[in-house]
Amino acid sequence: MNHATNITWQTSQVTQAQRQRLLGHRSAVLWFTGLSGSGKSTIANAVEKALYDRQISSYVLDGDNVRFGLNQNLGFSAEDRTENIRRIGEVSKLFVDAGVLTLTAFISPYRADRDQVRARLGASEFIEIFVDTPLAVCEQRDVKHLYAKARRGEITGFTGIDAPYEAPKRPEITIDTSQQPLATSVEQILTYLTANGYLT
Ligand code: PPS
Repeated sequence: MNHATNITWQTSQVTQAQRQRLLGHRSAVLWFTGLSGSGKSTIANAVEKALYDRQISSYVLDGDNVRFGLNQNLGFSAEDRTENIRRIGEVSKLFVDAGVLTLTAFISPYRADRDQVRARLGASEFIEIFVDTPLAVCEQRDVKHLYAKARRGEITGFTGIDAPYEAPKRPEITIDTSQQPLATSVEQILTYLTANGYLT
């Protein structure tokens, strides 16, 4: 809902298509979703590096990092997570308009929130990547020791333990990091981008 009045949309003289031509590739958001510890940030950062090595500019928006700044007033209630994803969706839309290949690494546990972002972006500008690592594997890794805390009841509302995760129904890409090495996941994504004309 828009609370501002007396505002007018300004149209810029340079189009998104022109910005993309300048950069030499199409822009879109690669929307990683999955449980905490599933590997979203690891894969997103490795893809960014692989793209950089090919002289393609991209940018990673990461859950933890964005919560230090833009979304520092949001917690992990269902409402706050929805607002978190809405804001990231809007930021992604600006990045995509700027011509950047944008990678987002947020749990984004609610299907409706992700679908809302998909609807806000143009057709083929939202590539949903389901990092489908089983909960047992994420919990075993427990890099940040948060699952242990959640099991002890020191954190409540932890995704996968006592807060929901709604898996995508038709993601563009699915990755199970317990079944394949990082390099294969990166290759899978680059192959998708090439096959679908994002990198030409
Ligand atoms: S969400 O659900 O999309 O709004 O979450 P996100 O912004 O991606 O933040 C997830 C990271 O926050 C840490 N964390 C929690 N995760 C889930 N549930 C609860 N209650 C929680 N509290 C803190 C956790 O480190 C997540 O990091 P990742 O990178 O996903 O492991």
